Amino acid sequence: MLADKRVLLIIGGGIAAYKCLELIRRLKERGAHVTPVLTRAAQQFVTPLSVSALAGEKAYTDLFDLTDEAEMGHIQLSRVADLVVVAPATADLMAKMAGGHANDLATTLLMATDTPVLMAPAMNVRMWEHPATQRNLSTLLADGLRLVGPNSGDMACGEHGAGRMAEPMEILAAIESALSDGPLKGRRVLVTSGPTHEPIDPVRYIANRSSGAQGTAIASALAALGAEVVFVTGPADVAPPQGVEVVSVVSAQEMLAAVEGALPVDAAVFAAAVADWRVKGESSSKIKKDKGQLPVLEFVENPDILAHVSQLPKGRPKLVVGFAAETDDVLANATAKRIRKGCDWIVANDVSPETGIMGGSENAVQLITAEGSESWPRMSKSDVARQLAAQIAAALG
Ligand code: C5P
Repeated sequence: MLADKRVLLIIGGGIAAYKCLELIRRLKERGAHVTPVLTRAAQQFVTPLSVSALAGEKAYTDLFDLTDEAEMGHIQLSRVADLVVVAPATADLMAKMAGGHANDLATTLLMATDTPVLMAPAMNVRMWEHPATQRNLSTLLADGLRLVGPNSGDMACGEHGAGRMAEPMEILAAIESALSDGPLKGRRVLVTSGPTHEPIDPVRYIANRSSGAQGTAIASALAALGAEVVFVTGPADVAPPQGVEVVSVVSAQEMLAAVEGALPVDAAVFAAAVADWRVKGESSSKIKKDKGQLPVLEFVENPDILAHVSQLPKGRPKLVVGFAAETDDVLANATAKRIRKGCDWIVANDVSPETGIMGGSENAVQLITAEGSESWPRMSKSDVARQLAAQIAAALG
């Protein structure tokens, strides 16, 4: 898939730069050509020598290196690639990209390029969560840049949280997806997945049995067809797919905000099992067990994300797909749901416990559209996902 593809790899100045050495190895293994560019700060973490030795190509560092200009001008360098990858995309590099700076070779190439750009952010959790970085991220996503990571976990600085650069194999999957020539190339698709957790107090919550398996399989299948996938997931059992932009949320309200933030998209698939209700007036401290006294929970309705997006007066995705998990009268209930919510398709399934579908690896679905319904035979959730992704590709044309 990557044979003879050209990747311009811009290495920013962060400790995660060491992972680029592994990334270059994996890209080369798959037949890609890698042209490395190091910022001045990157050279404090990895040397141009090790990078160029692994890439088998010259490592570029300086905008004013006249020998380089004679060999290949910086404008040409920015255009020869099929994809520009920025890894690690530091807070500073993201700020410069969002602001349109061009004061060194890396930023000049990013301004001059007409090829797609994928960024893999890496920074301290506070820097990642800082409003300035989040503002820059929104600007860059709106400008059409693609994102992989960051992940959550332990950081080199000793703190814990979001900001770890995606692992080389995850970046590789994102590169493969960005360079795929599948029928969904150039399409941006949103997938919601998993359950939501609705807090009662800081330690208790209300949840459901969704594992996130079907939504994860759908996101993978769409990415395999070349789509740029934004995967908004609640706290699921299964790991999110590789090569997609993952937005992790907990509650239905957070999921709505993440979905709104991901728009515009060409198609949206709402596979999440969103809680219909949340607890009114969530307690900010743990509710104490008082002998003989039982807590009374009052509920309020959660926003219906699918209905909201289906009925957007402006910026509605061309294709909106909802799910209907039913236990009785599957076809009648799901058909009515499609009309009530205003979506284009409904993927309906029977989640009665005896079917083993919820939390299992297989699914038996009916696809309901304005034209009628079709029953698919029972098959693995990945086969359902592949068939659905193919039909989405056909519908988007
Ligand atoms: O109404 P019901 O929950 O059965 O509808 C299921 C469909 O609606 C799914 O596609 C689910 O993702 C979506 N949904 C939603 N927001 C809600 C409830 C359901 O997006 N609050």
